[in-house]
Amino acid sequence: MNFQHYLLTFFIAFFFGCNTATEKAIEPNIIPKPLSQKINDGFFILDISTAIETYGEFKNVANYLNSFLTENYNLKLPSNKSNNQIKFITDFTIKNDEGYHLKINKNNILISAKTSKGAFYAVQSLIQLLPIKTDTKAIAIQCLVIEDEPQFKYRGMHLDVGRHFFSVDFIKKYINLMSILKMNTFHWHLTEDQGWRIEIKKYPKLQEIAAYRDETLIGHYSDQPHQFDGKKYGGFYTQEEIKEIVKYASDRQITVIPEIEMPGHSQAAIAAYPELGCTNKQVKVATKWGVFEEVYCPKESTFNFLEDVIDEVVTLFPGTYIHIGGDEAPKTNWKKCNHCQKIIKKEGLKDEHELQSYFITRMEKYINSKGKQIIGWDEILEGGLAPNATVMSWRGTKGAIQAAKEKHNVVLTPQSHCYFDHYQSTNENEPTAIGGFLPLEKVYRFNPIPKELTKEEAKYVLGAQGNVWTEYMKTPEKVEYMAFPRMIALSEVLWSTAENKNYHNFKKRLVVYQQRLDKLNVNYANHLYEINGNISFKNKQVFYNLKASSNDKTIRFTVDGTNPNSTSTTYKKPILIEKNTIIKAASFNKQVMISTIFSESINKHKAIGNPISLNVAPHKAYNSGGKQALINGVSGSNKRYGDKEWLGFAGDDLEITINFNTPKEINSISTRFYNGNGQWIYAPKEVALILNIENGKVISTKSKIKNSDSLLVNFNYNIQKYNTEKLKFTTLKLIIPNYGIIPEGKQGAGHKAWTFIDEIIVE
Ligand code: ACM
Ligand code: ZN
Repeated sequence: MNFQHYLLTFFIAFFFGCNTATEKAIEPNIIPKPLSQKINDGFFILDISTAIETYGEFKNVANYLNSFLTENYNLKLPSNKSNNQIKFITDFTIKNDEGYHLKINKNNILISAKTSKGAFYAVQSLIQLLPIKTDTKAIAIQCLVIEDEPQFKYRGMHLDVGRHFFSVDFIKKYINLMSILKMNTFHWHLTEDQGWRIEIKKYPKLQEIAAYRDETLIGHYSDQPHQFDGKKYGGFYTQEEIKEIVKYASDRQITVIPEIEMPGHSQAAIAAYPELGCTNKQVKVATKWGVFEEVYCPKESTFNFLEDVIDEVVTLFPGTYIHIGGDEAPKTNWKKCNHCQKIIKKEGLKDEHELQSYFITRMEKYINSKGKQIIGWDEILEGGLAPNATVMSWRGTKGAIQAAKEKHNVVLTPQSHCYFDHYQSTNENEPTAIGGFLPLEKVYRFNPIPKELTKEEAKYVLGAQGNVWTEYMKTPEKVEYMAFPRMIALSEVLWSTAENKNYHNFKKRLVVYQQRLDKLNVNYANHLYEINGNISFKNKQVFYNLKASSNDKTIRFTVDGTNPNSTSTTYKKPILIEKNTIIKAASFNKQVMISTIFSESINKHKAIGNPISLNVAPHKAYNSGGKQALINGVSGSNKRYGDKEWLGFAGDDLEITINFNTPKEINSISTRFYNGNGQWIYAPKEVALILNIENGKVISTKSKIKNSDSLLVNFNYNIQKYNTEKLKFTTLKLIIPNYGIIPEGKQGAGHKAWTFIDEIIVE
C-alpha cells in the first residue's frame, strides 16, 4: 500500500466508521493486574504522526518503547512535540519508585513516574494495550487511566545454570520475559557441584576443570541403576558476557543477584582445587544430582580463595546483594576433619552448625566491607544468623517466620508454591520433572506473607521468587515450559493487590497473554483446558465428577478405557460408579479436542466413603484432597507426591482409623508410601495394623518395611492368609511411625523425614 492509499483508507475508517476503529482498540488485559484502571470513552490513534516527548532519565525508556514499536509495527516515532504524542513526565507525587500513572487520552498518552523504573512499567502496560497483530498502521488504543504500583519490592525469578548451562542469548530472553511481567530481580545460580559457570580470572582451573563434567545422569535420579550419557558437558560465562547480561537486565530494570554457593554445593570448585576441601582428595565435578559431602573446609586458604572470588564478582554485579547459598551443606567431612574441629574448639563453637554460621558470618563481614549485603538459603539460620543477612526461605515458610521475627529481611521461595521444577499437571504425559506438584492455580493463590507474622514483622517480607532448578531441564524450551505460565501467575502475586486478584479473570487474561508469548517464541505449558475430576458420595452411591478448567467448553468422556473423541458422551451430570472403572475425558471446542486426555482409574474397594480419622492433620501444603482422599478409590500419581491423592505429613507419627459403616469381610489391606529421598520424603520403617472384629476380638500385627531406593514403597497385608474363617471387621487402624531423622550425607540430613501416604485399599 502506498502512503496516499494508506491515508485514504485511514480517513475512510476514521470518518465513516468510527465504530470500526473503536472496536479495534483491544480490551485491557494487563498482567499483572494494575492497582486501578478506569476505562474512558474513545481511543488514541498511534501512527506515524505520533511523536515521543521525553527527557533526562526517561530517554532510555522512551528508546526502549520506540525500538519495540519499530520492531513490531514498523513505527519509528520522532522525538518532538506534536498534537499526537506520547509524553513522559516526572511526577514526584508518585510515592513508589516503581509506581506510575498511564493516561491514554484522545490526543496524547501521558506517562508519569518518579523514576525510570515506574516509566518502564508504564511502558509495559502500554505495550499490553497494543494489538498482537502487527500489520496495522494506525493502532487504536483504548482511552483509560491507570494508576499502578507493586505490592512487593522483591519480585524475583531464579535460574540454575549449574545443572544445565544456557547461552547468553537465552539468559537475555529469560530476563526480557521477566521484565515484561514487571519482575525486578534475576537470581543467577552460578556455581554448583555439577559445574562452575562464572569466569574468575585469578583461578583458571575454575574455567578449565570446574566448568565441565565428564558425563551426565540419564533419566530420573530415582531410575535405578543409574546410567550416564558418556558425554563431556559444560561451559561458563566470561566476565565480558556477564557484563553484557547485567547491562541488558539493567536496561529492563532488573537487578542480577549472583549466587556463589558456600560451603556446600561446591564439588566442582573442589574438583579444580582439592585443597579447598577437608580431605585434599581429588574428586570429580559431579555427574549426577543430589547433595554431596565435598564442602569447603573453613581454613584461611579457603577464605582467601572465596574472598578473591568475591573481589571479582563485586566488580561485575552492581546490585546490593551477593547470594552465598548456604543450603544443603553436609557436615560429614567437617566432623572428621582435624582442622574443622580445631576451629570449633578455638572459636568456642557448639557444633558443626555453629561452624557453618561462623563460615557465613565471616564471609558476610567481607562482603559487607565491599559495600554489599548477603542473602542466603534458610539454612543460614542454623547455628545463628549472620548479623545483616537476608534469608531466602525455601524449606517451607518456617525460615521466613523466624528471620522476620529476628528482624531480618526475607524472600519467600517455599517449595510448596515457588518451585517451578515441580510438575504442573497430573497428566501422565507431562515431561519428566524432579517430582512434586505445583499447578498454576496454587502459584496464583500464594500469599508471600506467612499468617504467623504480625503486621510489623510482615514488613520484613521483601517479596517472593520462583525457582527453576534445571536437573531435568536440558534445553531452553524445557525451561520455558516449566517457567511459563507459572512465572506469570507469580508476577501477579507480587505486583497486584489481593482485592485485584481473581483466578478466573487471570485465566482469561492469560489466554491473551499466551498470544504475546507465541510472538516471542516461548514454549509455555498450556493446561488451561485440562479436566479435573473428583469422587463424591450421595445416598451411599459413588459418583465421579468432571470439571473443565474453562467452563465454556464441552467435556466428552468414556468409561470403557477408550480415548474420548468428538462423538463420545457429553458430560452433563456426575457419573455413577458401580464397579472398577476407567474414566477418560477431554475438553472440546465444538468438535475439536483442545485439552490433553484426562484419565482416572477408580478402584471401588470396600473402604470407599467410610468415616476416616487421623491423629494429626496433614501438612497444609499437602492436604488438597483431605483425609477422605485416602479412601476415595483413586490412587495418587506414580511420579508426584503433591497431587490431591497423596497426603503429606511433616515428621509426624501417624494413626489412621477407618470405622466401617457396616462390618466388612476383608481379604487384604494395602497402601503405598512415597520415598522421594531427595525431597526429604521417606517411607516408614514399619507399619502396625489393629483390626477390630465384630465379635469383640482384635487382631494386631506389625510389619517391617524393607529399606528401599525405589520411589514408591508398597505395603500389603493379606488377612486371608492368617484367618480362614469369614470374619467381619468393624474398624481398621494403621499405625505408621515417622521414618525418623534423615541420615548424614542425605538431603535434609538431621531433620525429621516427611511421610507421604496414598490410597488405603481394602479388598
Ligand atoms: C535449594 O533448593 N537447595 C535451595
Ligand atoms: Zn575441614
